[in-house]
Amino acid sequence: MTTLKDVANRAGLSVSTVSYVLNGKKKVREDTYRRIMQAVEEVGYVPNQQARSLKTRSTLSIGVVVPDISNQFFPEIVKGIDDAANMDNYTIILCNTDNDAEREERCINALLSKDIDGIIYIGTAKSKAILQRKTELPIVLVDRKLGERYISVTTNNYQGGYMATEHLIHTGHSSIALITGPVFITTYFDRLRGYMDALNANSLHYSEELVFECDFTSKSGYDAAYRLCEQNVQVDAIFATNDLMALSIIRALLELGKKVPEDIAVVGYDDIYIASIVMPALTTIRQPKYEMGKKAAELLIKAIHKEEITQRQIEMTPTLIVRETT
Ligand code: RIB
Repeated sequence: MTTLKDVANRAGLSVSTVSYVLNGKKKVREDTYRRIMQAVEEVGYVPNQQARSLKTRSTLSIGVVVPDISNQFFPEIVKGIDDAANMDNYTIILCNTDNDAEREERCINALLSKDIDGIIYIGTAKSKAILQRKTELPIVLVDRKLGERYISVTTNNYQGGYMATEHLIHTGHSSIALITGPVFITTYFDRLRGYMDALNANSLHYSEELVFECDFTSKSGYDAAYRLCEQNVQVDAIFATNDLMALSIIRALLELGKKVPEDIAVVGYDDIYIASIVMPALTTIRQPKYEMGKKAAELLIKAIHKEEITQRQIEMTPTLIVRETT
């Protein structure tokens, strides 16, 4: 059986350096790291996971909980998490909850039973295991905030909501409907506040009649557009708080004989890939999805290593991307 010594000899380094690097205990220059990894491959060295985890009480694995893997927004975040985790030899275990609180609870308990080193959570914000801190494990929230108790990485959703609404006002619209995800989730509540303040700042009246609360799925956006038209609510623009809903809203409006943007302009949120390739291409608010994931993983690994974390609530900047629906 090949040993650490074989790897060290092949890489021309000391056994302790190789051991520290393979156990994630020491950061080395990129080329040294590659040399060690190449030597590991060449001599066919397989770290003894159990021995390592007993010794370091670490499995070098991170649990990642997402609400809807079929929505392109979340995989882009997971890619950032995975790349950053890999840099430090961590592997991720991904759980999809379909936005169902019970399933989420089961996922979290299953992850905890796998002796993971930490959790990155993008959940329903209903999970007892998380809310009641039923675990001492480091946890980082992404795209959600649950107060100072938790490290979180989000976009400034108030600013995003404000920018989307202001863009519609500046492009000549004055009766702007909001089709939003569940506002008990801070992410959506902040976008709603941004929408309300932008209307107010431009002396436009806020009316609850123009706010439709959905569950951020494509179908719920589609149904909301039909409800809006059936209720004969006169609007000249719609701000949908994610792209999936925005795209299906456009579908519904076209089916109802409305022209986009001539009759009704539409702005989305997220800037998932398909938003740029559909016709008309979607005007939207871009969230730095990959960077959010990367930052969350870096913060979690710091927390696992008990390194000091000065800024616990990270808010990244959204960007207005103007295309053809406004
Ligand atoms: O598309 C998913 C949406 O829900 C995104 O806007 C994201 O912020 C999430 O909360």
